[in-house]
Amino acid sequence: MPPPIAKATPETIAEAGRLLASGALVAFPTETVYGLGADATDGKAVARIFAAKGRPSFNPLIVHVLDAAAAMRLAELPPLARRLAEAFWPGPLTVVVARRSDCPVSDLVSAGLDTLALRVPDHPVARALLAAAGRPVAAPSANRSGHVTATRADHVAADLGDDVAMILDAGPTAHGLESTVVDARGETPTLLRPGAVAAETIEAALGVTLARPVDGPSGAAAPHSPGQLESHYAPRARVRLDAVDVRPGEALLAFGPPLATSGPVLNLSPAGDLIEAAAALFSALRILDAQGVASIAVMPIPQQGIGEAINDRLRRAALGR
Ligand code: TXA
Ligand code: MG
Repeated sequence: MPPPIAKATPETIAEAGRLLASGALVAFPTETVYGLGADATDGKAVARIFAAKGRPSFNPLIVHVLDAAAAMRLAELPPLARRLAEAFWPGPLTVVVARRSDCPVSDLVSAGLDTLALRVPDHPVARALLAAAGRPVAAPSANRSGHVTATRADHVAADLGDDVAMILDAGPTAHGLESTVVDARGETPTLLRPGAVAAETIEAALGVTLARPVDGPSGAAAPHSPGQLESHYAPRARVRLDAVDVRPGEALLAFGPPLATSGPVLNLSPAGDLIEAAAALFSALRILDAQGVASIAVMPIPQQGIGEAINDRLRRAALGR
């Protein structure tokens, strides 16, 4: 069943804010494209985004906040990022910056990276929804993976199933093109994805030339996905997949009823729930690393739904650094 479309009004926006706060998914308009939103601090809600998008891997998501002050509660904004924020927020520019150590955003949002992509949207409905939700909202474009980006509520409805609680409809979006993504951590800003703000406009505002990723940014239709690259968090521990036993010295990363072992055990989901497992995945790897375990035996994860993305990530972990 397609999700219900609701014309954006103060009442439906308030209801959408309550839905977000309860862990449900809400699609909403921004000035660029429709976003598929979830409470960024709720790992299971974020996992539902990946499940709904049908993407076979984890790609880091943009976090939407009301203003620069809200952004600074989540991440460090170095001088360059502050200048970008002053010049372009609210608006279709996303900055990638380092997470604060006390950042409450789920690490599934960053797909295991130490960074956050932050954006302050300039659309009255998006802003009212952020205010109603009272929390940062993770939102990729509201289309299924590989499908055309959704710029109208009926596109979203046609593309996404009943795992979306509500689509807020405010007509077609203004830009129809996603936000520009700039890595603003270093001395030189780097263009990660071309988008609604032209690179030249950013360069004029900053008075510097944007660096481009080595392989060059692809077009907006095929966004450059730095999250897919080896910059992903890689555990120090050796990772052994599809384990049916636990060998001496191994920690166990379990899924469902755990294998017998006297060593350390971390269970991604005792109930065998893939959404719960996805939400726990990145922190589990970090916790085991922090404990200094040398190798991790991982129980089999079903290759269905979001299990495909979990297995993709675990295979990368097994390849090592
Ligand atoms: O206009 C937009 O940006 C829309 C609306 C809904 O805000 N959102 C959007 O999100 O296009 P999405 O998930 O489709 O694209 C996010 C882009 C991807 O290219 C991703 O690789 C990059 O941002 N990204 C997200 N987090 C990142 C991070 N921590 N480091 C580097 N790149 C990141
Ligand atoms: Mg997208």
